[in-house]
Amino acid sequence: MKAEGTLSDKIILAIDDTSIDRIRRLIAATSPFITTYKIGSIAFTALGPGLIQEVRASGKDVFLDLKYLDIPHTVSKAVRQAVSLGVKMITLHTLGGREMMERSVEASDNRAMLLGVTLLTSMDAEQAGAVGLRGDVHEIVGRLAALALGAGLHGLVASGQEGPRLRKEFGSGPVLVVPGVRPSEYGTGSDDQKRVVTPQQAFASGADYIVIGRPVTESSDPARTLAEINEGLR
Ligand code: C5P
Repeated sequence: MKAEGTLSDKIILAIDDTSIDRIRRLIAATSPFITTYKIGSIAFTALGPGLIQEVRASGKDVFLDLKYLDIPHTVSKAVRQAVSLGVKMITLHTLGGREMMERSVEASDNRAMLLGVTLLTSMDAEQAGAVGLRGDVHEIVGRLAALALGAGLHGLVASGQEGPRLRKEFGSGPVLVVPGVRPSEYGTGSDDQKRVVTPQQAFASGADYIVIGRPVTESSDPARTLAEINEGLR
């Protein structure tokens, strides 16, 4: 289940919007550069499974990023539903624990890639400590990653800053998805993201896929921004 092929397969665009018209325009504009669109809680709450069906019908893959965290029964049934909608990638929050993840792996029947979210890229050590997670960011991410991979998940979502350590500890097997990506020329800072990396750094740190949202979706010319990102990666 590893990433292979062209850059367009490896750059996932986060659709965090509520308007189906804007989303349709975004997909039309970015389609030559993108194979997989990430649908998270903003777009899913606004537009529901119909959006997944529409993206699939346009020939694209869907990364359903709802970061499931609930009792094992609930999450495994939700995963089964997501699989039946034909999504390619699904996130679970590793804080949901081992049984929740194991039952989800079983429910997915190997028909989708299950990814564990370790620590949100918007959180630093201080914020992690405030919710009771002990240690520095690397220790927290390492512990949660071990739990997720031990439960049979296919991979992890983690900041590029954790990439090298994760690769060192867990090898090249797990799929590594890196959000919190900001091209160096992105002028307006990192938004609410704290542990950001550039696309080049993300891939150099071991990412199989990068997730990018606002630097593209809020650009006046999303296609050009993606073309520039691609250019910078060649
Ligand atoms: O706009 P931006 O590039 O910050 O979007 C990043 C996307 O990746 C958002 O949809 C966010 O929910 C998601 N994400 C993240 N950090 C994680 C997991 C997912 O930023 N650890």
